[in-house]
Amino acid sequence: MAVTQPFPRIDGELWAAESRVADLVAEFGSPLYVYDAGVIEAAYRRIESAFAGADILLAYSVKANSNLEILKRLRALGAGADIVSQGELHRCLAAGFSPSDVVFAGVGKTEVEMEAALEVGILAFNVESAEELQALGRVAERLGRPAPVALRVNPDIVADTPHEYTRTGDGASKFGIPVDRILDLYRWAADQPSLEVRGIDVHIGSQILDPEPYTRALAQVLDLAAEVRAEGIDLDFVDLGGGFGVGYEGEDGLSVEGLAAIVVPRVAETGLRLILEPGRFIVGQAGILVTKVLYVKHSGSKTFVVTDGGMTELIRPSHYQGFHRIEPVISREEAVREVVDVVGPICETGDFLARDRVLQMPAQGDLLAVQTAGAYGFVMASNYNSRRRPAEVVVNGTEVTLARRRETLDDLLRGEIP
Ligand code: LLP
Repeated sequence: MAVTQPFPRIDGELWAAESRVADLVAEFGSPLYVYDAGVIEAAYRRIESAFAGADILLAYSVKANSNLEILKRLRALGAGADIVSQGELHRCLAAGFSPSDVVFAGVGKTEVEMEAALEVGILAFNVESAEELQALGRVAERLGRPAPVALRVNPDIVADTPHEYTRTGDGASKFGIPVDRILDLYRWAADQPSLEVRGIDVHIGSQILDPEPYTRALAQVLDLAAEVRAEGIDLDFVDLGGGFGVGYEGEDGLSVEGLAAIVVPRVAETGLRLILEPGRFIVGQAGILVTKVLYVKHSGSKTFVVTDGGMTELIRPSHYQGFHRIEPVISREEAVREVVDVVGPICETGDFLARDRVLQMPAQGDLLAVQTAGAYGFVMASNYNSRRRPAEVVVNGTEVTLARRRETLDDLLRGEIP
């Protein structure tokens, strides 16, 4: 398969497919999110071909990047969707997804959200508690339309993710249903005319680089699936969730081929359909956040590079101590390298993009590219400090599409009652 190199550097200058990143900023302003659709497609195809031996639905995890232009492109590739809110459902429908390829996760679905998803006919609700199951049954009865369900298992597995906030499979997390409650709940669900048991689900965390915890989670859910089926309860699918890690520091991401080699034969022998919910793996490497250097300031023993983008554009460094490579858009080889903090303009000490980072010393007006920002970047952006959220641009070969315009001052006041 042709490997699409994300954001290549040619003669010292960063490109996004066939466009100079500096030209994109000249046209659309800074800070700016830039996504390369070719890189998204390559990542999607890589998972698709690794798992080709299974009957698979790739349900893209919309929370990673929910821009409509990206959703439309993923839909065109044949993706389904993993959603966690009515808002994400709304986006998926607007992007042309077929509801029958949509699974709905989340510990706090409201009855209004359940109703909306039932009405359009989604593939399944991944249910996370007994009370939620009962509520879904009530909603389905009211609507006269049985609700398709899978139970999300909490396998009590601690996956080695870079931050505790992105682990979801351990017994102490709010997600999923404890293993010892699963069988009883399937029995109960199977007895309800308003519920249709469809599958079994697990998701152990996010940014996982090692296939090993998936192997353990799979073994658990397949054992449970066998027990459920032994009760005469039919299952169509096993959903293994997402969490496939990418290389933020230039290392390899999760070997999806290695994972598939373990998962595909085991799932195939059960005859179950396999659902995967990757988000970050598909869009992470395909995006950069470009930000302009406003000032360089020296304070005490430190050097601060103050940029026009910060935690309001990309919260991962401050919220998860997430590491993102930062590079000059136009490299100055002659520049000295220094240890700096790259900080945003927001009035918080926790507002930084990098700390104690060796960087080619930039000058006022230089552009920096924050790498691997395609996932959990713009979607977690905020208007804190009454900042306007940035524009998003999608490049595809020579094509450049403004996928979201920069917010205006009036956008900031929208919805408020003067
Ligand atoms: N499925 C479920 C049920 C999930 O909760 C998630 C992510 C995914 C799939 C997709 O995970 P992915 O393949 O993208 O790793 N904001 C954090 C990540 C939060 C992930 C939440 N759930 C970050 O920036 O690292």
